Amino acid sequence: MNDALLEIIGATKRYPAHDGSGATPTVLDNFNLVIPAGEARIVTIAGESGSGKSTLASAILGLVPLTEGKIMFKGRDISRLGRVDRKKFRRYVQAVFQDPYGTFNPFYRVSHTFDTVIRNFRLARQRHDAQALIEEALSVVSLNAAEVLHKYPHQLSGGQRQRIMMARAYLLKPDLIVADEPVSMIDASLRSMILRIMQRMRDEHGISFLYITHDLATAHQIADETFLMYRGVTVEHGMGSTVLSRPQHPYSQQLVASIPRIDQKWDGTVELPDELPPTPGAAHGCLFTDRCPVAVEACTRTVPKLLPVGAGGHEAACLLYERQASA
Ligand SMILES: Nc1ncnc2c1ncn2[C@@H]1O[C@H](COP(=O)(O)OP(=O)(O)O)[C@@H](O)[C@H]1O
Ligand SMILES: [Mg+2]
Repeated sequence: MNDALLEIIGATKRYPAHDGSGATPTVLDNFNLVIPAGEARIVTIAGESGSGKSTLASAILGLVPLTEGKIMFKGRDISRLGRVDRKKFRRYVQAVFQDPYGTFNPFYRVSHTFDTVIRNFRLARQRHDAQALIEEALSVVSLNAAEVLHKYPHQLSGGQRQRIMMARAYLLKPDLIVADEPVSMIDASLRSMILRIMQRMRDEHGISFLYITHDLATAHQIADETFLMYRGVTVEHGMGSTVLSRPQHPYSQQLVASIPRIDQKWDGTVELPDELPPTPGAAHGCLFTDRCPVAVEACTRTVPKLLPVGAGGHEAACLLYERQASA
């Protein structure tokens, strides 16, 4: 038995067409990923708005069924879990979303958020055991129980609310936290605190993260492994932030070139351009052809595969490298 913690195989999502054309937009196309067991890591999924990141997050959380492919958690297909295994899955895979305010009930104090989780998952029998768990979880996110538990959500800052959501996830001692744009609505000055909490959870508590972001600066800062998405497709993948420091795909290179001073410390936020249209039907060529400065005719009719472009599993999906590989 050497099952990965998470294995995503050929994940594809198409939605029914809305325009009556019969073409089903592909919003996630043959996505593959492996997070090994026993070695916590932060895997970053970066991409423009509309590149399919949240669709992927929803699929991993079991909220959206895939059209094709499968998602295995500890060797089990998450779409085929029985009741008991489903409950375990819902404990060991947690989610943190962009807007923590939306996750709170405004009428309850913060303590209620924790009490509900403890009750639902029967984490403690005695009140003082529950209290100890809550205090530990809050200390992991550097919050003080006495200061926050009696407050209502609106009495907290956005950064505090997000830290409480991280503490809530931590309470369940998950193996994986799917964090979809967790710092996008937080002041830039407080972002690094949330990122440090993620690193602490990885290093001290063995929790892996799927860190989803459209912000390349934080992607660069925190990734143990990076996937760069474009219109539902992985265009480039590598360990650490290689994809952003040594981009090989023309799209990645264009993005990185738009970032001021890549070789220096990035301060401020670098945002990707706005929402992209979904791909109608299945792709017949490279989706970046229209915007690509080095496109050739073949790019319009050949779907590029991910091919090695550097050390440590660095790969990019571009015909440039296919030509090189066959030369
Ligand atoms: N329920 C849905 N029905 C149809 N299209 C959808 C649905 N949800 C998302 N999409 C489309 O899928 C694409 C990817 O969306 P999403 O996964 O939210 O991207 P991201 O999180 O990277 O911004 C977008 O074009 C979006 O409009
Ligand atoms: Mg999204």
